[in-house]
Amino acid sequence: MYKLITTVLCLYLSGVYGYFTLPGKCPDISVMETFNLADFYGKWYQAYYYSSDEQNMNNCSTLEFNIKTNSRTYDTVVLFNQSRVDRGLFHRYSIAGVSPPSGFEADLELTFQFINAPRRLTTRKYQFQVLATNYRFYATAYTCQYSPLIDKHFIYVWILSRKPILNDVSKELALKPLQQIGVDTSKIVKDDRNKCNPKYYDDVNTEPTTFRYPVAM
Ligand SMILES: *[C@@H]1O[C@H](CO)[C@@H](O)[C@H](O)[C@H]1NC(C)=O
Ligand SMILES: *[C@@H]1O[C@H](CO)[C@@H](O)[C@H](O)[C@H]1NC(C)=O
Repeated sequence: MYKLITTVLCLYLSGVYGYFTLPGKCPDISVMETFNLADFYGKWYQAYYYSSDEQNMNNCSTLEFNIKTNSRTYDTVVLFNQSRVDRGLFHRYSIAGVSPPSGFEADLELTFQFINAPRRLTTRKYQFQVLATNYRFYATAYTCQYSPLIDKHFIYVWILSRKPILNDVSKELALKPLQQIGVDTSKIVKDDRNKCNPKYYDDVNTEPTTFRYPVAM
């Protein structure tokens, strides 16, 4: 039994160590002071990204924020849909609820539900923070997760574009907030959009690759 627990713990920790690589807590950052979620709705292409664990897992990634109305209760919810192509073969997406749903806050909270996960992991919440956007061309979004267990953090930055290709002027503007948070712009990766029609269209809701570890809130 102990052996099993140790093995499971080791596997968990090796994952955690590979994922959380930056020392200490998440840095202090400033999100946009004025923000309008309604203007942010619709589809965004991930033009570039930065992942502090240097994993390259998100080709053909798009993010979509959409408002959905429950046909029975007429309640409205905002959904976040992160779609991507895995190894050029599988189409995947991850859905989260967004709160505050009608907000003017650039600090959004995404709630993912994993119905088949162990009970304490069925609901997982992550911040999605908008650092810059002009709504029509570009956006820079950020998330940081901290592991108290090993005192390290993970950062992911999305450089988003309304069109599949981001123009140079918008790219400059989108990269500006990276200096402020100390991310080296030479470490950003261009999203490869060459193989975006996967062989298998396995359109199932899966875990988002950008938020792989459950974090204490
Ligand atoms: C999520 O986005 C992808 C790509 O646009 C789409 O194929 C999929 O149907 C969407 N899923 C939901 C539940 O909206
Ligand atoms: C993304 O594209 C790059 C370059 O074509 C490729 O090396 C990498 O394996 C792809 N990654 C995934 C997860 O599809």
